[in-house]
Amino acid sequence: MSEKKRILSGIQPSGVLTIGHLTGALTNWNKMQKEFESFFMIADLHAITQKQEPANLRSWTLDTAAMFLACGIDPETSVMFTQSHVPAHAQLAWVMSSFTGMGEAERMTQFKDKSKKKPDNVNVGLLSYPILMACDILLYQADAVPVGDDQKQHLELTRNLAQRFNHHYSDTFVIPDPYIPEVGARIMSLQEPTAKMSKSDPNQNAVIFLTDDNDTIIRKIKRSVTDSGSEVNVGEGKEGIENLITLLSVSTGKSAKEIIAEYEGEGYGKFKSDVAEAVAAYIAPIREEFKRYREDKDLLINILKKGDEQANKVAFKTLSKVYKKVGFLQY
Ligand code: TYM
Repeated sequence: MSEKKRILSGIQPSGVLTIGHLTGALTNWNKMQKEFESFFMIADLHAITQKQEPANLRSWTLDTAAMFLACGIDPETSVMFTQSHVPAHAQLAWVMSSFTGMGEAERMTQFKDKSKKKPDNVNVGLLSYPILMACDILLYQADAVPVGDDQKQHLELTRNLAQRFNHHYSDTFVIPDPYIPEVGARIMSLQEPTAKMSKSDPNQNAVIFLTDDNDTIIRKIKRSVTDSGSEVNVGEGKEGIENLITLLSVSTGKSAKEIIAEYEGEGYGKFKSDVAEAVAAYIAPIREEFKRYREDKDLLINILKKGDEQANKVAFKTLSKVYKKVGFLQY
């Protein structure tokens, strides 16, 4: 077995990916894949907890694979796979759901938020979603999980479930640590800067998609909601400006402190237009690479097939251990 530590992470193929996916997850995946044995998953089982048009789900699954490549994931060294092609995820989720309290599942912030947002679709899958996510991670014995800030609570549940199982039987699962970036862990909506930027936001102007062209990116940032002041700084009521500082920081590598010093006394006009240009330049090569990969469906499918096979081997090994420990007859 490889001496390297492992990481696993995933993205739902429920829409076009945004700059939040890049800064919260993909940038770290790219950096970490050199050091860790890496598993990157298209979380299609998770995606159906929201209503999906089948044709869209298929297309977004390929989009997501193309975007992984465009963001620098190397399929020669990292395993890129589709969750629904590895049956152990659903199988382990059944076992672990018997180790999860109702209250524990109901406490999850994302479950509460999504139930509130779409009261006509509060399905059982939405409730057990974090259990499946825990299993995604535990099956691969991942040491670290590179994610954005919004997944922190799910990681806590993962650790609790793993510890509970290990304690009840014997050591089975590695206890994973979340790996959350210092900058860009929570990119906010451009139109409502106290809410997270989300690919499913009905207001397209609130979101920078990784497929947006330069003019669209520039327009969205220039029209983003800020405050009535003029000082480029962070603080109460300045969430919009803080978000733009973060976007400029991830796009240029400058720190927030440097940016605030640079724009002292400048006002918002020049600042916004600099952010817009910097973000457009940052996204452009990713968009172009995405287009190139997305055209080659055979390439994408072949990469996923190979990844599915590699993932199945690792996942099945853990699942077999679990089945044995819980007492399913071995024959
Ligand atoms: P998902 O598909 O919502 O998002 C994928 C990753 O992108 C990050 N992210 C953001 N980061 C910063 N700012 C934003 N606005 C933003 N939007 C999204 C997320 O934090 C996440 O890291 N449950 C997961 C998918 C999943 C998973 C897993 C992740 C399924 N199984 C196992 C890790 C390990 C989700 O819905 O992410």
